[in-house]
Amino acid sequence: MNSDQAKPEFKRAPEMEDRIMEMHTAAMREMSEPRDGIRPTPVLFLIICFLFTMWGGYYMGTYAGDWTGTGLAERAAGPGAAGPSAPQNPMVLGAEVYNACTQCHQADGKGLAGQFPPLADSEYVNGDVRRLTAILVNGVNGELVVKGQTYNSQMPAWKDNYNDEEIAAVLTYIRSSFGNKSGPVAKAVVEAVRKEVGANGAWTAATLTEFAEKK
Ligand code: HEC
Repeated sequence: MNSDQAKPEFKRAPEMEDRIMEMHTAAMREMSEPRDGIRPTPVLFLIICFLFTMWGGYYMGTYAGDWTGTGLAERAAGPGAAGPSAPQNPMVLGAEVYNACTQCHQADGKGLAGQFPPLADSEYVNGDVRRLTAILVNGVNGELVVKGQTYNSQMPAWKDNYNDEEIAAVLTYIRSSFGNKSGPVAKAVVEAVRKEVGANGAWTAATLTEFAEKK
């Protein structure tokens, strides 16, 4: 056996060569080679994401209802808890009403020397609750001695501006603010005093003392 004959001779026809080249160029054109590394995100895609995010923020801002911190707190407190008929914390309500008093008695309750008496450490504020309530209901005119100082001016009546709950609240507030440490005033006290003397005019120091001693 001749070894030369066992080896198959591989001869391509020159026209075959051309066809192979043709096929491969076509295949290489069709399939792009996988590339190394990270491809940058297309800018158009980023713009679309941005627009969706903006729209989402706008949508939530517009249709969030009262799902805010305060809105949720009110829901948690139960239906109607924030309604106007709900009983209010007297210290909160009282502080609100006290805004009407600051122009004279000042925010710190110390008054203005010679013009407006102090509520801080005042014997009227920390003393008899009925007498204090009577001052608010009808007001006081003329000479009034507070903490050893004589004032001679006018304290307006508040009976037409505030209801019993509001007067009780502001009295409760001034009795435990500015360093005062006296107990709260019940709405019932204001109700009773209003019924008893609400039709009267302003007190003087003398009629006020008379009223307080009467009981
Ligand atoms: C327009 C000024 C003015 C306003 C506002 C006013 N007061 Fe007075 N208040 C006076 C004057 C003046 C006196 C002293 C009256 C006098 O001299 O006869 C007085 C006296 C008092 C007294 C008794 C004396 C004392 O100092 O303890 C109390 C209590 C009091 N006011 C509470 C209040 C409260 C509470 C408010 C708010 C709801 C208020 N006042 C708003 C002017 C005012």
